Amino acid sequence: MKIHHFKEVTSTNEVARQYLEEGTVIMADTQTRGRGRHAREWHSPEGGLWCSLVVKHEPAPVLNLAAALAISKAFEHFGLLTRLKWPNDVHVDQRKICGILSETEGDYIIVGVGVNLNNKEFPEDIPGTSYVTETGNVVDRMEFLEKFVETFNAVIQDDFLTEYRKYSSTIGSTVIVKNGREITGTAVDVDEKGRLILRLENGKEMKIYSGEILRLHQLQ
Ligand code: BTN
Repeated sequence: MKIHHFKEVTSTNEVARQYLEEGTVIMADTQTRGRGRHAREWHSPEGGLWCSLVVKHEPAPVLNLAAALAISKAFEHFGLLTRLKWPNDVHVDQRKICGILSETEGDYIIVGVGVNLNNKEFPEDIPGTSYVTETGNVVDRMEFLEKFVETFNAVIQDDFLTEYRKYSSTIGSTVIVKNGREITGTAVDVDEKGRLILRLENGKEMKIYSGEILRLHQLQ
């Protein structure tokens, strides 16, 4: 792993395009134009971990699931339990602590990961939280990054879906998925391509490549 650490960048995903080499990690203390999914802005103040990994293989949806799982496991290592909301958000009690945005550049996938660690303020549109907010403790960002990358590399070598399912808060819930239209159903699984398998009200199953879960009710 080769880490390039910057004080301020526009977006680590943008900078990573200049460093297309497998295993490269770009990290910045702040981003002036951090990007989120669905063309949203990503608030990137000091204290958070804003980084991008350059990866050469695997389709992006699978890498996203692997990265989300690796983040959950890294949090667990530092004593915080988190859950995974499909496709690739990490949550604590429905508050977002990490988001992932993967982008393709040539043969490479740039896996951009935003983790709220020691920052305490979050945008108002999406309920957010951070490691320090949840635990009262500050975590060393570099130690967290190293744990995350080590875990990510181990996870992608493996058949990690069984483990992903254990951390998922989506599987087993009734959800509304927004992906151009709104689809209601019960999330029954995630498959090897990273698709969400939804059981519709008519009993049929549907595989969903991408989308956003609008509401989520945990089945008892
Ligand atoms: C989301 O909307 O949930 C995805 C957020 C991804 C944010 C990270 S921060 C590091 C990398 N650089 C960016 O501009 N975005 C990603």
